[in-house]
Amino acid sequence: MSAYQIALIPGDGIGKEVVPAAVRVLEAAGKGIGFNFECFDWGCEFYLRTGRMMPADGLERLLGFDAILLGAIGHPSVPDHISLRELLLRIRFEFDLYVNLRPVEVLPGLESPLRWKRPDQIDMLFIRENTEGEYCGVGGRFKRGTADEVAVQQSIFTRKGTERIIRYAFEQARRRRKTLASITKSNAMQFTMVLWDEVFAEIASEFRDVETAKYHVDAAAARMIVAPESLDVVVGSNLFADILTDLGGALQGSLGLAASANLNPVERRGPPMFEPVHGSAPDIEGRGIANPIAAIWAASLMMEHLGEHDVSSRIMTALRAVTKARSVFTPDLGGNSTTDQFTSAVIGKIA
Ligand code: NAD
Ligand code: IPM
Ligand code: MN
Repeated sequence: MSAYQIALIPGDGIGKEVVPAAVRVLEAAGKGIGFNFECFDWGCEFYLRTGRMMPADGLERLLGFDAILLGAIGHPSVPDHISLRELLLRIRFEFDLYVNLRPVEVLPGLESPLRWKRPDQIDMLFIRENTEGEYCGVGGRFKRGTADEVAVQQSIFTRKGTERIIRYAFEQARRRRKTLASITKSNAMQFTMVLWDEVFAEIASEFRDVETAKYHVDAAAARMIVAPESLDVVVGSNLFADILTDLGGALQGSLGLAASANLNPVERRGPPMFEPVHGSAPDIEGRGIANPIAAIWAASLMMEHLGEHDVSSRIMTALRAVTKARSVFTPDLGGNSTTDQFTSAVIGKIA
């Protein structure tokens, strides 16, 4: 069997601490299948050296890989709108990775800040549109720096883009509890969100076995706190689901727990990309205390999507065994272990 070719983009800050942790776990759990990792030093330091977030042929260099594992991008030395748009968002957009899949689950032994809920009442799967919407990047600034300055940031919702993400979400709902919630804001946004609602209703008629609900994004945020058990699969636009999934991470117990997969389940313009939801956490970088769970979970999602279900579940089983034992936690979860100590504990549990 040939080895998997995996591109690593640790990026910035704690991205450089959690990706090596995930790689150690992959190597332990994937013994026998083999990986060829190639590490790319793209990110803010690369930008300060070269004036670019990745080389001009960066995307082409990623094409031959089976998957990308990314840490986090962003550092105070480079404006965020440059670092993120020119690396992370370029990969999502140009490879047309239109699904951003984000599980929100409470691992055994962990406590959600929602103390009055049982852990099994917080179990959602967010399906985030990942290639258009509020993030399309169309706009501009006019009369910059003057009192008459104007900034325009367009949202673009295409029928095709909306249909494909909603259809994917219905398919996921069928594989789980057969309920799907759509996140909207059509009470205020009469063009984009009304199209979103119309498309949702159209696709729903193809999936009559799936029960549907529609929540305005503000009410959805409140619902995640007061009645998370009423949510299972949730589909939302790029910005709305971005915001709700950081809330999801907080409900899991820490932002250091939330993992994601960037996928194009229909055609392949480039490799899928797996990453933690969190950022580069400049407030704790370099201290060796970042929680690697999100990155390790992202590595498990990667194996699942490469069809290596055994490796994927071996990783999650080991992760769950360590959290359940409650003896090794990084400081964000109230412990005093390091990233490396936590990672070694997971490797110690790999069957
Ligand atoms: P952040 O997610 O980096 O940090 C928010 C808070 O959560 C911080 O207090 C941080 O210490 C904590 N945290 C996050 N991940 C953690 C982990 N694994 N273990 C322990 N604690 C963790 O968000 P931010 O501060 O808004 O952004 C920092 C930088 O990261 C910015 O440049 C931002 O643009 C960028 N960013 C990048 C990505 C990405 O590359 N996917 C995602 C979000 C933010
Ligand atoms: C995420 C991040 C990114 C996003 C930022 C860093 C551009 O917050 O992956 O959730 O908004 O998509
Ligand atoms: Mn985010």
